[in-house]
Amino acid sequence: MALDYSQKVMDHFANPRNVGEIADADGVGEAGNPKCGDIMKIYLKVNDAGVIEDVKFKTFGCASAIASSSMATELIKGKTVDEAWDLTNRAVAEALDGLPPIKMHCSVLAEEAIHAALNDYRAKHGMAVIPTEKHED
Ligand code: FES
Repeated sequence: MALDYSQKVMDHFANPRNVGEIADADGVGEAGNPKCGDIMKIYLKVNDAGVIEDVKFKTFGCASAIASSSMATELIKGKTVDEAWDLTNRAVAEALDGLPPIKMHCSVLAEEAIHAALNDYRAKHGMAVIPTEKHED
């Protein structure tokens, strides 16, 4: 059965923004979904004011995971690290005009990978790492 994807999901899947790596990233984070085996990696470049100047991703995953990575990187670029922390997977899905319910968990990878990258940045800068909870969607 074909899933009903929004135009935005199709656009971000076909033309994902911010694909790649940042060699001298200030924070790198990875998240994986043990059920499907999909993996997302996020690289952050953060300036002295704590603003995310650049962000790239590499995702080995389904169309929804790639679209979620692309949208999530667009949403946190130019934000402070604190603002970026508050980005939820639901906000990513909403910005994509929704994901099919059985694909909501794919957007969780984006939230978790960003949190992991932000915590990597925090640890490297002597800040306390923020505890995270695993959630399904
Ligand atoms: Fe694994 Fe979408 S099916 S992230």
